[in-house]
Amino acid sequence: MSNVFSLKNKVAVITGGASGIGLAMAKRFISSGAKVVIGDLSDATKVAEQIGATFIKVDVSDEESVKKLFENTRAQLGPIDIVANNAGICPEFKTLNEATKNDYEFAFKVNTLGVAFGLKYAPRYMNDGGSIINTSSLSGKMGVFGLGAYCSSKFSAIGLTQTAAVELGDRNIRVNAICPASVNTAMAQENDQSQLEMEKIMIPLNRIAEPEEVAAVAHFLAADDCAFINGQAINVCGGMTA
Ligand code: NAI
Repeated sequence: MSNVFSLKNKVAVITGGASGIGLAMAKRFISSGAKVVIGDLSDATKVAEQIGATFIKVDVSDEESVKKLFENTRAQLGPIDIVANNAGICPEFKTLNEATKNDYEFAFKVNTLGVAFGLKYAPRYMNDGGSIINTSSLSGKMGVFGLGAYCSSKFSAIGLTQTAAVELGDRNIRVNAICPASVNTAMAQENDQSQLEMEKIMIPLNRIAEPEEVAAVAHFLAADDCAFINGQAINVCGGMTA
């Protein structure tokens, strides 16, 4: 049973791997035997060194930059098995009445195009039989007060996930999304704290998630053991919704 959920010798790319959920994924994948590339806009050279990963700078909203991330990964480590399109941003809280074109464009560029470009280029450099995990959000399934731009970008990420699952099925590349409620990372700290407190009340487990708890679900989806889960958007929300 020691090989259960092993990622031994798998090559994995994690965008937004410099911090929060992506960094927790990187650590977990490495401890399961994977060779990991962290792709991020922020310099993660040091953190990558500390955990035994490779850092490649990427702006996921820039098509050419995303192509290079996967191209360079394959050149350095060989064909890719696992991709986590995880980089994301959350524009500041604004009602629909207040939100600007800029807010929508910012969210769309990083959260939607970031996933779309990942889904366009990663498969060109992947082994058949791989796994792609897109980080959406519970805000990709339900409207949230003040988060219209974020919600629309994360709903789109689920649409892209389901489309990719259909298109890549003939290569046995599975594509799934994870949909966390609030997670204890820099992003959640930047959010309205009263909203966070309200969310805790709505979560039966009475707390928000730790990034490692989201990384555990990504690990499950990444592993070959999970061979028949495809095109799903899996909530990691402590029971906040069904
Ligand atoms: P975080 O802020 O700790 O990490 C996000 C990472 O993405 C950072 O390292 C940042 O440098 C990177 N990034 C941002 N823009 C980028 C770009 N254009 N190109 C490349 N890298 C870029 O936040 P967290 O919480 O770890 O977020 C990870 C994902 O989880 C995001 O997609 C976020 O929307 C999603 N999420 C987060 C939740 C939370 O409450 N923290 C809840 C639900 C989903």
